[in-house]
Amino acid sequence: MRTPFIAGNWKMNTELTEAASLVREMLVELDKVADVEKVLCPPFISLTAVKKLIKGTSIELGAQNMYFEEKGAYTGEISPIMLVDLCNFVILGHSERRQYFAETDEVINKKIKKALQFGIKPILCVGETLEDNEAGRTEQVITSQVKAALAGVNSTDLLVVAYEPIWAIGTGRAATGKQANDTIGLIRNSVRSLWNNQIAQAVRVLYGGSVTGENIAEFIIETEIDGALVGGASLKAKDFLSIVSQTAAIKSSR
Ligand code: PGA
Repeated sequence: MRTPFIAGNWKMNTELTEAASLVREMLVELDKVADVEKVLCPPFISLTAVKKLIKGTSIELGAQNMYFEEKGAYTGEISPIMLVDLCNFVILGHSERRQYFAETDEVINKKIKKALQFGIKPILCVGETLEDNEAGRTEQVITSQVKAALAGVNSTDLLVVAYEPIWAIGTGRAATGKQANDTIGLIRNSVRSLWNNQIAQAVRVLYGGSVTGENIAEFIIETEIDGALVGGASLKAKDFLSIVSQTAAIKSSR
């Protein structure tokens, strides 16, 4: 049994006081939802404050990025040493990092390995462009991203993967549940070819891209989809709570 998983990726939104208010607004209700792993990923500068607020609750914390070196002359970067005592998850390979900050599969692979070395659980994002999707290249792109990111990785115990088609991120044009389920099946095939069927069935794979309280059910009812990586809707306490509680209700009824 894979524990359902919902993460909120706040991206470059909320300054310190806004981050704290957002957490306070949903803290009590979010804590009460059982049987779903709930992870908040605020900007770096709010990690400490959010960590204090969620202390003693069932809510967990994630960073949105991490560098693969441990320390040194890398102006502006954040290392695993800085994150390891702060949060237990880190989003890696997000398409916005690939697109705007030129992150390559090779860099992402180094980051994944480094996170695992420090026991920080990576949420590895993969996803195809609209152009690739329309040209029928989804399988090829996804398979190559998964294989490159996980090359040389020896344990998947801490790994979570998120399928985030680029054309669905922040566009209000989500994939359909069936599309997402099929592509997540392809991700499990890649994991199977890297390791074995048992590992492919055990790793959690999320859908991300314009998930809201209105459409979450469509994804969660699908058998391959274990949860969601939520951007925009995670900035509204009510919407995020609705996504988490619907996930709990649907997955526990199966
Ligand atoms: P969105 O973002 O929910 O705003 O589309 C998802 C993501 O990029 O993780």
